[in-house]
Amino acid sequence: MKKIFMCLSFAMLAVAFSASAETVHISTPKTSLVLDATKGEQPKFLYYGNSLSTGDLQNIQAAGTPNLNAYPVYGLWPANEAAFAAVHSDGNMTLDMVTDNVSVTKNPDGGETTTITIKDKVYPFTIDLNYRTFPGLDVIETWTEASHNEKGNVKLTRFMSGYLPVRRNDVHVSQLYGTWANEGRVEEAPLPHGVKMIKNKDGARNSHTAHGEVMISLDGKAKENDGRVIGAALCYGGNYKLMFDTDDTDYHHFFAGINEENSSYNLKKGEKFTTPPLALTYSEEGLGGASRNFHKWGREQRLAHGDTPRKILLNSWEGVYFDINEEGMQQMMTDIANMGGELFVMDDGWFGTKYPRNNDSTSLGDWTVDTNKLPGGIQALCNAAKERGIKFGIWIEPEMVNSVSELYEKHPEYVVKAPNREPVLGRGGTQMVLDLANPKVQDIVFNIVDTLLTKYPEIDYIKWDANAPIMNHGSQYQTADNQSHLYIDYHKGFIKALERIRAKYPDVTIQACASGGGRANWGILPYFDEFWVSDNTDALQRIYMQWGTSYFFPAITMASHISASPNHQTNRIVPLKFRTDVAMSGRLGMEIQPKNMTEEEKEQSRKAIADYKSVRDVVQFGDLYRLLSPYDGKGAASLMYVSPDKKDGVFYWWKTEQFVNQQLPRVTMAGLDPNKTYTVTELNRIDNEPLPYEGKSFTGAFLMSNGLEMPLSHNVDWNKRNDYASRVLKLTAK
Ligand code: GLA
Repeated sequence: MKKIFMCLSFAMLAVAFSASAETVHISTPKTSLVLDATKGEQPKFLYYGNSLSTGDLQNIQAAGTPNLNAYPVYGLWPANEAAFAAVHSDGNMTLDMVTDNVSVTKNPDGGETTTITIKDKVYPFTIDLNYRTFPGLDVIETWTEASHNEKGNVKLTRFMSGYLPVRRNDVHVSQLYGTWANEGRVEEAPLPHGVKMIKNKDGARNSHTAHGEVMISLDGKAKENDGRVIGAALCYGGNYKLMFDTDDTDYHHFFAGINEENSSYNLKKGEKFTTPPLALTYSEEGLGGASRNFHKWGREQRLAHGDTPRKILLNSWEGVYFDINEEGMQQMMTDIANMGGELFVMDDGWFGTKYPRNNDSTSLGDWTVDTNKLPGGIQALCNAAKERGIKFGIWIEPEMVNSVSELYEKHPEYVVKAPNREPVLGRGGTQMVLDLANPKVQDIVFNIVDTLLTKYPEIDYIKWDANAPIMNHGSQYQTADNQSHLYIDYHKGFIKALERIRAKYPDVTIQACASGGGRANWGILPYFDEFWVSDNTDALQRIYMQWGTSYFFPAITMASHISASPNHQTNRIVPLKFRTDVAMSGRLGMEIQPKNMTEEEKEQSRKAIADYKSVRDVVQFGDLYRLLSPYDGKGAASLMYVSPDKKDGVFYWWKTEQFVNQQLPRVTMAGLDPNKTYTVTELNRIDNEPLPYEGKSFTGAFLMSNGLEMPLSHNVDWNKRNDYASRVLKLTAK
């Protein structure tokens, strides 16, 4: 956990060309961001792209730079979109900010944070523009901090984390969209004239319907492994807005930050308003290069325990739903332990004394064990896990309450609701959101985790769910004039509670679940180890969702479970082999009633789990190369992971369509060392005969230029044939 609490950065060079002009060069190993921060003038954006040589850097202004404000503020050119807007205490709605100072701070790891301080020409109003780089990483985080010394409050009405001009040239934007059970879908489109906006207003969960990240392909349609791409990821778990304004200039104007809608913020004298980081990356290796940059930065700098392999688990939800009982939990633990799993997670349904949680309409808020279902309590379950040599984990939904609960009976004042109105009710017809702006609610949330982990230090894993949006605008905690602080302060309170939890329990694994994939964002991942990609566990649909999610998030973050067939969301009948081969491409787990599996299926899973362990490090820490997109409709999808030293690889291939005598493309591999020779071993094999290349060796050069043929079906007995085919190949260099 140490990483998240430290500031890390890399290199910055401030080149003074004359007494007054100051060019700020923020550099990473392969990229440069260049700004002009001349004292007394507006800071200018000059360049973002491949690393500049000293000569090019010196002549950059002569090459034709955008000559655009690096952080446009509202007021003096009101027709232009702004990154920041404020109403001064005297009612003046304009800002006129010029550079006051540039400073560079060395971070503990030897990296640096560059701060350009801009101040208003007339008002005592200041904004720090921060740029942070990291050793060995091609990602720059930018964010701002505003403060003032005016007599009254200053009302902030827009507060973007960053602004980037993007030169027009058939620029395409790839984004993720979706909904519950269909998250992480990829959509790519050229930028239109006018405004393209991607936004979230859910309040609590911000990645079901749209994601706060984009890939900007600078030269036409995005390609996987070549082409210039800028990646942008807003690191924020609350409401966001990403906006491209294409006006009558040569530039698309990209802004990203907290969504200011209904969220104006009254900033007190001396108070600091800090925007969340916007992470930027640039790659000339296409979408894949930008993804790999994000993955490495995410694992090394943001993700909780980004360097620790994840355990293979069984989660009880799709196996038993609310039907929790001690014997059932123990049976599931026995089964997952026998299959080689390492962790059992008891999902929803274990709590509630006065109101037992038998369905989703009661008990949230009452985190006491239901001893009718679990007479031995949680301790008996921890003991049972220990006896079986596995770890134990538990589900909670700490930010929420049902109207049918002891907590709500005692503290109706803790819920988010509009003054003078009844609260709007969500899941189960009774669910409400607790107002995390309220420090007492933060205590409640902290105490839920603290009580569990103090009483049962054996708890190794928490699934932290959030199954409701903020459904009505109103805070019983905020004063009347600060009702617009609801969304921002909710999120601040959420982070405060998580910080307390992580300070005391740095080692526990915590999954971010939010009705499935509602919380896939780098803003919260410093406190979480992974997220639940989707409540939809259908393997075929997961290929599409995990593909999209992989644009910004590495496999280690993506909880991916083998579930029952027919699938509970799609009713699709998918063979275990295919379900496993998809789950194995992420953080493998199971979410199934093992009691309903045949002995043969259990044996197959046991072998697959053992196989996964042999490539777990490559999947979870390797570089991702996406090879054949399911969205291209070519009948198959394929990707691979390669270890950083390029000695090990694991290749996945899934057939996404089934037609007789169809011609599928042969997939060429990527990311290998052309000069190394790799031996091929099939994992999770079900065929009667090994593949022709089993145990054979090929050079990386051959695998990357020619590839291997995938048979269209599996060589299995007639009664086992079905319409699916998939392959997982392990590649080991000599
Ligand atoms: C949400 C989660 C599921 C499960 C249920 C329990 O829907 O996404 O995985 O935990 O809640 O109620």
